[in-house]
Amino acid sequence: MPNPTGYPELDALLPRLEAIPDLGVDALASELIAVLGRKSGALTEALKSLPSLPLDQRKGYGAAVNQLKAGFEVAFAARREALESERRRNESAGIDLTMPARHRWVGSEHPVTRVVDEIVEIFRGIGFTVAVGPEIETDWYNFTALNFPPDHPAMDMHDTLFVDAPPIAGERGGRLLLRTHTSPVQIRAMLESPPPVRVIIPGLVYRNDPFDASHAPAFSQVEGLAVDEEISFVDLKATLVHFAHQFFSPSTRVRFRPSFFPFTEPSAEMDVECQLCHGGGCPACKGTGWMEILGCGMVHPAVFEHSGVDAERYTGWAFGMGPHRIAMLRYGIPDIRLLYEGDMRFLEQFLPGGQRGSRAAGQRS
Ligand code: PHE
Repeated sequence: MPNPTGYPELDALLPRLEAIPDLGVDALASELIAVLGRKSGALTEALKSLPSLPLDQRKGYGAAVNQLKAGFEVAFAARREALESERRRNESAGIDLTMPARHRWVGSEHPVTRVVDEIVEIFRGIGFTVAVGPEIETDWYNFTALNFPPDHPAMDMHDTLFVDAPPIAGERGGRLLLRTHTSPVQIRAMLESPPPVRVIIPGLVYRNDPFDASHAPAFSQVEGLAVDEEISFVDLKATLVHFAHQFFSPSTRVRFRPSFFPFTEPSAEMDVECQLCHGGGCPACKGTGWMEILGCGMVHPAVFEHSGVDAERYTGWAFGMGPHRIAMLRYGIPDIRLLYEGDMRFLEQFLPGGQRGSRAAGQRS
């Protein structure tokens, strides 16, 4: 509290002087008028009363009023300055104090990213190293080196976009296209280093497919390749069964069906027990109890020939699986488009550790 003046009517103003630093813009303006207003401000009135005072009192009272008036003027100016700089600060920070607060998003891995990482980790655990290749390929790597005869019907499933660009100097083969599978990286890996080869190859691939509940024109694949002396189909089966037991659960059943790919012979497709009905048959597995997750087979000798590997000495196997499909299978996702839309109401279900909701129908072992 400022020093008392010794005049009761002036001292009555001291609490108001002290309250000025807390006033808002409007209260400050009306207090200024109430105290210093030219017509009827409290201190203006006090000064007006001076001439009517006896001479001996005038000097002392006049000095007290003027001192108090100076105190109010300083306090009003300081408060006005403080309010103004606060306003400028908020304005330059773009703060709109009337806007409702924003929801804070917690980021996490996309379910497909998580599936890819887990697949890669399982294979790294048994001695595979990660390899990657370009998404824009030449048709030599994507088709010719993989033993697709020109215009073979197997290529119908691999219709894609061709890139209208001149061939890359020093790169093998013809037209540029968006790769339709990760298998061309098999060739790149073998050309890069001679056997033994054990690589796991994650990547995006492209096809001229419709965007519907079970197809997308761009999707992920993980390719595996093992080449060494005396590698057999038994190694392929054992490795993929190991994978299925690690990834799904130790009791998950698998089956192999004969199939065809130009770059493997013999070829097979592997099914795993439907993770939703566990073999009983449901709409997701079309009543069969099984879901196809990958294509595989023994590397065709023609592929070795294109890759500079001695087909008399070495054998090998390869597989290719689709993490989008596998994520749908594991989490019971009915429509592949949900994995592309980035809708937080869907993705929030996959936050780790139940940060919000919990994982949908999680089947992890
Ligand atoms: N590349 C094949 C596909 O996309 C899958 C596959 C890979 C098959 C390796 C056999 C061996 O359909």
